[in-house]
Amino acid sequence: MGRPGETTEPRYRNYVGGEWVEPSGTELRPDQNPADTREVLGDFPRSSEADVQRAVDAAAAAFPGWRRTSGPQRSAILTRAAEILERRAREVGEALTSEEGKTIGEGVGEANRGAQILRFFAGEPLRAFGETYSASNPETFLFTERVPLGVVGVITPWNFPVAIPVWKLAPCLAYGNTAVFKPAELTPLTAHLITEVFAEAGLPAGVLNLVHGPGDVVGEALARNPSVNAITFTGSNAVGRHLHHVASEHGAKVQLELGGKNPVIVAADADLNQAVEITTSGAMRSTGQKCTATSRVIVVEPVLRDFTDALVARARSLKVGPGMDPSSYMGPLVSEERRRAVLDYVAVGRQEGARLLTGGEPLTGPPFAHGHYVAPTVFAEVAPQMKIAQEEIFGPVVAVIPAKSLDDAIEIANGVGFGLSASLVTRDIRRAFDFIRAIEAGVVHVNSETAGAEPHVPFGGMKGSSSYSREQGRAAIEFFTQLKTVYLDMPPAG
Ligand code: UN1
Repeated sequence: MGRPGETTEPRYRNYVGGEWVEPSGTELRPDQNPADTREVLGDFPRSSEADVQRAVDAAAAAFPGWRRTSGPQRSAILTRAAEILERRAREVGEALTSEEGKTIGEGVGEANRGAQILRFFAGEPLRAFGETYSASNPETFLFTERVPLGVVGVITPWNFPVAIPVWKLAPCLAYGNTAVFKPAELTPLTAHLITEVFAEAGLPAGVLNLVHGPGDVVGEALARNPSVNAITFTGSNAVGRHLHHVASEHGAKVQLELGGKNPVIVAADADLNQAVEITTSGAMRSTGQKCTATSRVIVVEPVLRDFTDALVARARSLKVGPGMDPSSYMGPLVSEERRRAVLDYVAVGRQEGARLLTGGEPLTGPPFAHGHYVAPTVFAEVAPQMKIAQEEIFGPVVAVIPAKSLDDAIEIANGVGFGLSASLVTRDIRRAFDFIRAIEAGVVHVNSETAGAEPHVPFGGMKGSSSYSREQGRAAIEFFTQLKTVYLDMPPAG
């Protein structure tokens, strides 16, 4: 396996029909370490439409056999996958940190989270798959059964390169579908390792296929392919909406998990230390690159000054550095392109008249010289209509927005096109309930950060943050299966 510092980079392949196969073309993409781009972790195929077709054909051929396996058999395979991923958590976490940039604690933590997700979904094939009803004819046995969709295209982002593929693939396979997995081009090594885990766990050939390559070729071909019955996608709004359109043309089922502009609201009675910790962790962990990241903190006026001062002091105290250094709180951004996009937003915020209190600049010199670092950034005096208060930045940037009252704060919180997660910091149970009722978000927190998701409960957003579907927990069954209603009558006696 390729490790930073090795002189020759390993060359990786696709996984189709149970074998590691060469792509049809020869084009490769180097997988760089965003903390030090001189380190290349391996070369990965830039596959073509022909490679997608091969993978879809393999998944379609495997489907009839896989759907007929028993629930207990599928459960056993997923349990083995959980055990293998747990055993390999350090290795997978290091690969994740090396190619994505998040800290090693987060990297290994995410690998272990992947194992937990697999364990939850290993239980799913053992649970109920339908309901019985009383029919008008008392002799009729009337029941529903959940059946798989067929071939599912699984298109995943780079920011949670273990958790998101696993929380899509595990239910996809548990409910009897087969998959073509198209990971983000920036995190192919993690995808390779996940595929190895599933293969080692004993998945039959063709049930899971991996095709590396660019989204506009591989993702596009997957969404257009008429033999693909469903597409599950997490990523940007622009790409998600486009894929939805393309896949709907041939009637595929589509699930989208998109962006966020998640607020923390700080009430007048909040514990300010708690509010600062919740905001800092939500905004800066994973370098702000979570769709659940905190990017707005809406603060009522009586505590605005004290909260802002404390937040700025905390942001300045954060240790930024390579994710592999266990003392780093925050690593680099994933790519130079993403760093430029974040710095462009900083420039826009300044032009709009927001006050930059700390950060906002690239970090240079050792140990930052060869990585995509930006300092933790806090803007104050941000007005709700400013671009930096409306658009997803996906970086370590948080906007402090003043509010007159809690009602005003909730109105500001709801005044964006997204609705993924939101948090209120308060000691007052009545305020908490008012917030829970009024907030337009799929995931609501009181006194905890906007990021994070437990594997056994539904996850997803309102408004522009999703396509009304939910992932994880028992909710996953809604997307990955369809219902069959059965009227079973007896033939005449004799
Ligand atoms: C989390 O907050 O731990 O892409 C999960 C994302 C979300 C997942 C967030 N779909 O950031």
